[in-house]
Amino acid sequence: MARTLIRGATLVTAEGSFESDLLIDGERIESVGQGLGAEGATLVEADGMLLMPGGIDPHTHFNLPMFDTVSSDDHYTGHRAAAFGGTTTVLDFVPQPSGEGLLAGVAAWHERADHLAAIDYSFHMNVTELSPRVLREIPQLLDEGITTLKVFTAYNGRLRLQDGEIFQVMRVAAQQGMTTMLHAENGDVIEILVAEALGEGHTEPVWHARTRPAWGAVESVLRAIALAEQAGATLYIVHLNTTGGLDQVRYGRENGVRVMTEVCPHHLFFTEEELERKDGSKWICSPPVRAPEDLEALWSGLGDGSIQVAATDHCPFFYDGTRPIAYEGEEVAIPGKELGKDDFTKIPNGVPGVGDRMPLLWSYGVGQGRISQEQFVALTSTNPAKIFGLHPKKGSLQAGSDADLVLWDPERRLTYGVAHARHRTDYNLYEGWELQGYPEKVYLRGELIVDGEKWHGRPGGGEFLRRDPGTTFV
Ligand code: URP
Ligand code: ZN
Ligand code: ZN
Repeated sequence: MARTLIRGATLVTAEGSFESDLLIDGERIESVGQGLGAEGATLVEADGMLLMPGGIDPHTHFNLPMFDTVSSDDHYTGHRAAAFGGTTTVLDFVPQPSGEGLLAGVAAWHERADHLAAIDYSFHMNVTELSPRVLREIPQLLDEGITTLKVFTAYNGRLRLQDGEIFQVMRVAAQQGMTTMLHAENGDVIEILVAEALGEGHTEPVWHARTRPAWGAVESVLRAIALAEQAGATLYIVHLNTTGGLDQVRYGRENGVRVMTEVCPHHLFFTEEELERKDGSKWICSPPVRAPEDLEALWSGLGDGSIQVAATDHCPFFYDGTRPIAYEGEEVAIPGKELGKDDFTKIPNGVPGVGDRMPLLWSYGVGQGRISQEQFVALTSTNPAKIFGLHPKKGSLQAGSDADLVLWDPERRLTYGVAHARHRTDYNLYEGWELQGYPEKVYLRGELIVDGEKWHGRPGGGEFLRRDPGTTFV
């Protein structure tokens, strides 16, 4: 079994930072301490570096069919981009096949993912059509190692469940120790506003945001919290994006509801103004980017612990899928945002982010004093590990944990963009942004998969993580 000694780094955990050596034996951390012996081990001198648990992104959509295309990263290219950004575990959403049950969806998603996975991964299950059979199938997901369900209050006629159906899902989930995840927008209001906007001839990208009002997100966050309380359920609000939504999460938590939430980088950095640009479709995602005051509110939620996770909702599309790009020595073009050039409702929803998350949050969160480096680790790794039943195997630097590690160079400066991100798409939302702090080496279960600019990972190198029911409420 290969042994690696990382010597002289500052270890950063969710609880604190300290100088220490760390010894990897095979796939696990063998020991953490000062002056560890290196006999037979590969020695990595890491003075001046930070050593952290590998990132966990609990919200990705690889190879996701949408409208007339698919999200442009598959389970290999997306995993690789994640790894270059310091992430070693991802949790991807399994679509429920229309007219079929949940288990068929899971089998199909394994077929898509397993042979490509290059980092460790697990699945959440979307529940988008409810029937007695589907309700009976939910407990069977535990046999598949799936303990989390996503439901939607938006996307009428496609993904949305009615409130009573969400309540039923939450009740079964609660009985089984599963967590319900919720996409919070008001589908009925959106449906009416979209029809009106199109009727008045409004086709530009900014109408995507104008037809998905913030108050719809606020009230559906509260609605879901109220339903969760009545169902005795644990609730996780995905992609929180408004000040009012954060207020509702705080209200729920203060009143004993087991509600947790995540924020994604695009909701921390961008506003509706971006959608008015000529290339505004690059920022189209649901829920949309919001108002300037929401950015600071969401940052404050990260700082004070009201938001527990920084995820991405990575769901990339080409900006112009008619023009091939050179990607890993191949010409690639996948239909993307241009599908909606004459109609904002046809622009595929989603933005890239899985590789951006940790470098961006470090530079503009830790670097600007909005969060500490320990909070950075909690938000990007330890909290998602706890919430999604992966701790202490993942998200930890304890002896016995998986040796999923990021050696982070806090001095590295770079001008970021599409070339660094390595997502399989033709643009990056942070093009030209100045960063300080970047991953230098990334280990997956003891194996060095990223070494500076070099990639040593491989398709099939990632393991599917079966999870047990129950969550740690953080
Ligand atoms: O626009 C987005 N977020 N696309 C992915 C699907 C979702 O709702 O998370
Ligand atoms: Zn969503
Ligand atoms: Zn999503």
